[in-house]
Amino acid sequence: MTGSTSQSFVDIRGFKLPLVGLGTWQLSGRDCTRVVQQAIKIGYRSIDTAQMYGNEAAVGEGVRASGLRSEVMVTTKVQPERLAPHDLERSVKESLVRLRLDVIDLLLIHWPNPRVPLAETLGAMANLKHDGFVKQIGVSNFTVALIEQAVKATTEPLICNQIECHPYLNQDKVIAATRKAGMAVVAYSPIARGSAKGDAVLERIGKVHGKSAAQVCLRWLTQQGVAVIPRTSKIERLEENIALFDFELTDAEMKEIAGLARRDGRIVDWSWSPKWD
Ligand SMILES: NC(=O)c1ccc[n+]([C@@H]2O[C@H](COP(=O)([O-])OP(=O)(O)OC[C@H]3O[C@@H](n4cnc5c(N)ncnc54)[C@H](OP(=O)(O)O)[C@@H]3O)[C@@H](O)[C@H]2O)c1
Repeated sequence: MTGSTSQSFVDIRGFKLPLVGLGTWQLSGRDCTRVVQQAIKIGYRSIDTAQMYGNEAAVGEGVRASGLRSEVMVTTKVQPERLAPHDLERSVKESLVRLRLDVIDLLLIHWPNPRVPLAETLGAMANLKHDGFVKQIGVSNFTVALIEQAVKATTEPLICNQIECHPYLNQDKVIAATRKAGMAVVAYSPIARGSAKGDAVLERIGKVHGKSAAQVCLRWLTQQGVAVIPRTSKIERLEENIALFDFELTDAEMKEIAGLARRDGRIVDWSWSPKWD
């Protein structure tokens, strides 16, 4: 369960997006700050938060406390009910105040909102980029149809589509469309909310490589060039979740893990979700 933690990146038009980051949903307060600070200390260079998580202040504090702010990509996401241009602009400035950072490295639309024209939202995000409030922009929970709409709606490069992605959910269609649009795929819930641990197939493959089931699960994604943002509240698991670059899964193992996909594999589904592919 140990091994090299040296970082790898996905290159999107010269922007280096770390292949491993830390998810922070449900982390809060001092515990959140401590985990973020420690993650950066051991090599994480990407931290994922959102307006919805209510923890931007704690995340920002951890980033600043690390002393490595300039090396870290901080992602936050705009709530779907704040996507109209003026509100989006206000909400991003509020995020910056909570984070107490000079700039947001990557700003995402958290969930699509059919009541707000996409071109207006993306236009407002592009303006914030040009005015120096954010460095890069992208989307989350976008389907094939929404990706096609987004590409037509802006000339600004979109860096990524952050989507649910793990062995129990076949996301081939949306991954292909994301890549066709020149964007990186970022996997959320990449260890299926912890259920990779205890999976018989992942455990067995892990034994062959001297790795845990969670590491095999994360390696399966990163080996496909999919970035991952596993969350943990436990300092001792931070190292485990980033030690993914000192082993390689065989083609047969990659196929076997892909075979774990099932019809009911989706975990994150809300009343406001788009019609999934
Ligand atoms: N864009 C979106 O709509 C969206 C939606 C969902 C999530 N996200 C982002 O993606 C991040 C990750 O997704 P997630 O939080 O849903 O789920 P996840 O990262 O797949 O799983 C987190 C769970 O796995 C456990 N865990 C972590 N490392 C482990 C290990 N090595 N072995 C066994 N269990 C382990 C954690 O428990 P412990 O704390 O006990 O370690 C936690 O219960 C979120 O935190 C958030 O930043 C984005």
